[in-house]
Amino acid sequence: MIQPVILCGGKGTRLWPLSRTLYPKQFIEVSEGRVLFGDALERCTSLGETTAPIVVCNSEHRFLVAEEMRQRGIDGKLVLEPVGRNTAPAVALAALMADPDSIMLVAPADHAIDDLKAFRTAVEAGYERAKQDHFVCFGIVPDAPNTGYGYIQQGESVDGSVCRVRQFVEKPDLATAEEYVQSGDYLWNSGIFMFRAARYLDALEEFAPEMLRQCRKAVEGSFEDLDFTCLDREAFEQCPSDSIDYAVMEKIQDIEVVPFGKSWQDLGTWSSLHDINPKDANGNSALGDVLLEDTKNCYVRSSGRLVVTLGLEDITVVETPDAVLVAANDKLDGMKDVVNRLKAAN
Ligand code: GDD
Ligand code: MG
Repeated sequence: MIQPVILCGGKGTRLWPLSRTLYPKQFIEVSEGRVLFGDALERCTSLGETTAPIVVCNSEHRFLVAEEMRQRGIDGKLVLEPVGRNTAPAVALAALMADPDSIMLVAPADHAIDDLKAFRTAVEAGYERAKQDHFVCFGIVPDAPNTGYGYIQQGESVDGSVCRVRQFVEKPDLATAEEYVQSGDYLWNSGIFMFRAARYLDALEEFAPEMLRQCRKAVEGSFEDLDFTCLDREAFEQCPSDSIDYAVMEKIQDIEVVPFGKSWQDLGTWSSLHDINPKDANGNSALGDVLLEDTKNCYVRSSGRLVVTLGLEDITVVETPDAVLVAANDKLDGMKDVVNRLKAAN
């Protein structure tokens, strides 16, 4: 059986001012009626042979998660992290709570995947390989040397389109990423993984034993509160923080990669939201109460107040009740720094 595991404890800082600590991007409406966490949940629970999903999130977001699940009529186990310790421990918690023999489908909650048929075909191929006790990741053909992604070097084919992985490199520097993209040998890591639960725990035992020990303690000391599973706070606080990519995927030997078509997008920036949303004849994308005059290639979004633009080009405007962002489209890469500065000032 496939055990879906949805990770939704991330912060999504680059989508400020809409994405906030208490209301991060996986819960905001990225386009009309579309919430990424809800999409991920539906995608992973409509595959046929699946058990109820395990959702691992920060305890601050428990009601947002529960409400999205309720609206979609999806029941599952909701595991609350008292603090964020990144994705390797989050996956460990799920692996410790799942049937050790089940095949976990670990899915992030910050992606858009439009081609559901391609997703299902890729997961079916991954399922077959994970049942043979391989670690499986899903690769995207890169179209730019993006340093925010992991890179997967493809080796020989093992089964149809599935290939062995020669090397898994998480977030290389720009020069290395350029080299990888030019070589044509590398795929981006989509952040989706499949493996047997017990196999993941064995890998942690080998590469991050202290992390496994603290996660085990946190699960052993956990208790149920309403519909939520709350961890032993002290044990989880002492857990080392690391991503699955650095802690496991860069270290493990027998990874295989399933190619994953083109219709995958990490929606982490305002420019990516501009890309996926419908545009008018001038390349503008508008959401909410917005009036655009003599405006080109702008992303303009209002959560309440009327926003009027006149004579603007290549600008992003995001209005919220307590903060407004006005940014040049070609400077949006700096959002993370801006948010860090805001946090430091508060
Ligand atoms: N439960 C939980 N706890 N979830 C977390 C935590 C945590 O502490 N931290 C992050 N997440 C969730 C995020 O909400 C997201 O859905 C997913 O885990 C991945 O985390 P990100 O922080 O978004 O990772 P990334 O985008 O920098 O990198 C990963 O994804 C890329 C593709 O988008 C890596 O796997 C890269 O290799 C990959 O290319
Ligand atoms: Mg991400």
